[in-house]
Amino acid sequence: MLPNLRKLARDNSVRRFLQNGALFFSTKQASMARESPHGHKVQALFDLCRQTFTPSGTPPLSSHSVQKLCSLLDTFGPADVGLSKDALEDDRGHGFFGLNQLVRVPRWAQPITYVDIHECESFTMCIFCFPSSAVIPLHDHPGMTVFSKVLYGSLHVKAYDWVEPARILNKSGPVRLAKLAVDNVLTAPCATSVLYPKTSGNLHCFTAITPCAVLDILSPPYNEDAGRRCTYYRDYPYFTFANKDEKSDEEENYAWLAETSTPADLYMWPGIYNGPAIQI
Ligand SMILES: [Fe+2]
Repeated sequence: MLPNLRKLARDNSVRRFLQNGALFFSTKQASMARESPHGHKVQALFDLCRQTFTPSGTPPLSSHSVQKLCSLLDTFGPADVGLSKDALEDDRGHGFFGLNQLVRVPRWAQPITYVDIHECESFTMCIFCFPSSAVIPLHDHPGMTVFSKVLYGSLHVKAYDWVEPARILNKSGPVRLAKLAVDNVLTAPCATSVLYPKTSGNLHCFTAITPCAVLDILSPPYNEDAGRRCTYYRDYPYFTFANKDEKSDEEENYAWLAETSTPADLYMWPGIYNGPAIQI
């Protein structure tokens, strides 16, 4: 989802940290995965993703495939991916995944924790864990399908789709018209949300109403070389740039989006996956 974070995770020191963490947990959790129904559930999700997704994202997913994935994801709660009950009350965004000394941050900093469960050519499976009020700013998922399951807590989702054909104005830089697709608070337990390459809110912004966590599956993954770069946007109300004589009752359903650089205050750290090991 967030290339800067991936860059951070690929940095040697952090990679070593993540690998050590994964190694530690994989040894311990491999046996748990055989014994625990939770292990089977994460494994089942992984297996289904592997059967379903392709590196190119084509052909588009059938409604049957989407339904199957949603049905399985709908059954997921925090314990299934290794989040303990005590940890749900931790509002620091990182407490239950743990941080090593390299990435320890002050209490006030309120980072979002990003946990990679698995990444391959065809899909990314990961968890975002938010403290209250944390925000992932408006960003896109070019050519991608994303499944999001809120595991606990409440999350406000605001999402847009581009208006087609593209309507672009030049207002000290280009702005492009988008239509509001989602403006909802998701509170667990709730159904899985799905966004598609061109519909159902491909550009979205997350704001944590309470501490919360989201299990995400993205396919195909972000990949700049394949033209799937994550771009951030700022949204302007429709009336900001529209002609007065164009005013309509529907203007609140539209916004102009301007590309921005990666927000400097996007504060995110990698955490350790503490759930059942996946047999690849
Ligand atoms: Fe996203």
